[in-house]
Amino acid sequence: MGDIFLELKDIHKSFGGVHALRGVDLTIRSGEIHCLAGENGSGKSTLIKVISGAHHPTKGEIYIEGNKIPSLNPIAAISQGVQVIYQDFAVFPNLTVAENIALNRAVTTGTKWMDWKNARNLAIEAMEQIGAKMDPDLLVENLSVANRQMVAICRTIINDAKLLILDEPTASLTAKEVKKLNAILRRLRDKGIAVMIVNHKVDEIFAIAERLTILRNGEKISTGPVAEYDRKRFVHELTGRDLSGSGYAPLASEAEIFRVEHLSRKGAFEDVSFKMRKGDVLGITGLLDSGRGQIGDALFGIAPADSGKIFLRGEEIAIRSTEDAVKQKIAYVPEDRLTQGLFLDRSIQDNTVAASLKKYFRKGKLNDAVMYRETAQWIDRIGCVAPSPEPAVRTLSGGNAQKIVIAKWLNTDPALIILNGPTNGVDVGAKFDIHKILHNLAAQGIGVILISDDLSELIQNCNTILIMKDRRMASMIQTAEVNETRLAEMLSS
Ligand SMILES: Nc1ncnc2c1ncn2[C@@H]1O[C@H](COP(=O)(O)OP(=O)(O)OP(=O)(O)O)[C@@H](O)[C@H]1O
Ligand SMILES: [Mg+2]
Repeated sequence: MGDIFLELKDIHKSFGGVHALRGVDLTIRSGEIHCLAGENGSGKSTLIKVISGAHHPTKGEIYIEGNKIPSLNPIAAISQGVQVIYQDFAVFPNLTVAENIALNRAVTTGTKWMDWKNARNLAIEAMEQIGAKMDPDLLVENLSVANRQMVAICRTIINDAKLLILDEPTASLTAKEVKKLNAILRRLRDKGIAVMIVNHKVDEIFAIAERLTILRNGEKISTGPVAEYDRKRFVHELTGRDLSGSGYAPLASEAEIFRVEHLSRKGAFEDVSFKMRKGDVLGITGLLDSGRGQIGDALFGIAPADSGKIFLRGEEIAIRSTEDAVKQKIAYVPEDRLTQGLFLDRSIQDNTVAASLKKYFRKGKLNDAVMYRETAQWIDRIGCVAPSPEPAVRTLSGGNAQKIVIAKWLNTDPALIILNGPTNGVDVGAKFDIHKILHNLAAQGIGVILISDDLSELIQNCNTILIMKDRRMASMIQTAEVNETRLAEMLSS
């Protein structure tokens, strides 16, 4: 580890009445991998925006390489070597790999003419530095998520990054891609670059980070070498509570609640059959293009199946549209919830009641008091950090917004709920709460289908797991018969 690159002293940041950061101190050294951890809404993204000059702290001091920075703005931060990769990577899909990598440099160095030949060379050089192999002339829109991220990383390198910050970089990566990313981050660290990562997945944090800072409610709870934390201390400091959950133990019941037979959709998945009994939580997993997500889309009528049969409580039903699915009381928490699941500019209340307005009509009028009360109850039950049902969903942190989509669907009293990656980007505490809610639903006889690539989540919550491979069912296993290692092997074999 090298010298201190960045030092923050007593940083405060308020948005109106919300104190997002309360006196945070933080030091980041050159050549270290530092993980910033905290529950949803604890202030991680806000802190990153302070470091990148996007937010001015309400109070506090920032030092870069020992020099006090009186006022940091985004351009100044970049010229000091601070580079942030947000979750959308900010790449341009209709430009090539090389153009994307070289573009920013042209902007920040004020070059008027883009020297494309030189750009291409710069890009190739940057890729070599991190060991990424991509065709520099390929359009970025044709790249996988992981490769787009590589493009974003290369771009920071040719901009002379000294501190590289990644906000939830592994959210949409496969286990294999995470390993590759980690190798690249270690390479950058070895070159003396400071790397700061935001991540919610405990195992991933322990695998990559050397030091760790934990935020809770905008305050720094602790900071230190990862070796000084075990899982228990980590979870306790992060959440302020001890979470010891047992896995889900389903009721023994023979009553069938849901069944599909030979379900197919051309190009998406083929010949999928399964049966769920009362109390079952069914997991569906597989690699990214295995067809796992498309099954959820089909059962909710977004991209309906073109052959096969679906039975709810023994009766055959037709699902040709989302209207059909809603009528049958099927609920769906989609994977891309920020675009598919929420009205960002509307209030938490509007979103929570959006799929169940019917039940709030009294004498032809919406009963606002009941909607408000029930929304407040959901906020509480699902552990959403929000002061009331009134703020717009846009003002919530990513993970808290996600909980609102789940609340919205649970509020419809579904017969079957399908959740596609429901805890991506959700902190450990909230994850625990969401899992508990799923267990309760299943115990009440509501069918729960959990589509996920989080193996420990599947093992803890499902009693059966369907593995998809190449768009077909590869196997159907009883969770009691496998552990995480075995499941990982089955997925990748
Ligand atoms: N522009 C804003 N206006 C009002 N409140 C905000 C704004 N940005 C953040 N907040 C609030 O500040 C707090 C911290 O939010 P932040 O996005 O930093 O959390 P986070 O730790 O990144 O959470 P997540 O893990 O969900 O991404 C939250 O209560 C959030 O609602
Ligand atoms: Mg965030």
